[in-house]
Amino acid sequence: PVLSGLLGLSNLEEQLRGRFGLNKVVIVPGDSDTSSSTKQELGRAGATVLQQHLREGDVVAVTGGSTLAQVAVHLTSPVAHPSNLFVPARGGLGESLEYQASTIVSAMAKRTGAQYRMLHVPDQLSEEAYTSLMHEPGVKEIVGVIRSARIVIHGIGDAMLMARRRRVDAGVVEALKAEGALAEAWGYYFDRSGAVVHKMPTAGIRLEEIMTTEVVIGVAGGRSKAEAIAAVLRFGHQDVLVTDEAAALEIVALT
Ligand code: BG6
Repeated sequence: PVLSGLLGLSNLEEQLRGRFGLNKVVIVPGDSDTSSSTKQELGRAGATVLQQHLREGDVVAVTGGSTLAQVAVHLTSPVAHPSNLFVPARGGLGESLEYQASTIVSAMAKRTGAQYRMLHVPDQLSEEAYTSLMHEPGVKEIVGVIRSARIVIHGIGDAMLMARRRRVDAGVVEALKAEGALAEAWGYYFDRSGAVVHKMPTAGIRLEEIMTTEVVIGVAGGRSKAEAIAAVLRFGHQDVLVTDEAAALEIVALT
């Protein structure tokens, strides 16, 4: 039964890989919605995939979230990698401290003997404040580094859940609903077809970088995220997907 289970999963990996034109798909058994050990395994698998792609001198841009926090917990390295630099993919997105990208990059760097930098941009900036902040040499410089990342590793969220978690205005929530937002990734909201319907006003990685970054690794699982994951896959710039069995089965059923 164990063997057929594993064969079943590698079959599913191949199906997803082919369907969305990905380079690699990794599926862990179970459902992270209901099992914390599955969520940990998802993090462990994400960490392994990241380690497989890491090269000397790499800049890695990382998003926040509970899944990426699990990836950080499972990153290990027998030797230090002082030439690797971890940076948050985007500035303040309204997450709680433990799920903020800055917290996660510092954990990743400590666990691998690498470097990290932070991007201190507050949430809920006015257009005016945002524009002047972007002209600050210090901010400009770190944003340039972030945009030069060779690897982006990120979570994917359900649009409404992420909007609530980030306490976005009621008006914006209504607009997101009206536009059919299903998924959120990198601070952008996507509809079912993978089209962008809304963007959080913050600095860092833009979609143009996502489209051109060499390695884009998504780590997201749980049956409840299937539609969101499928929407981001339809956007079409994912290279590697790390997910769980429950999400994978549901994505296949949906598409
Ligand atoms: C956020 C990322 O911090 O975490 C998002 O900025 C992502 O892009 C989200 O969608 C996922 O969170 P979680 O907790 O479901 O892994």
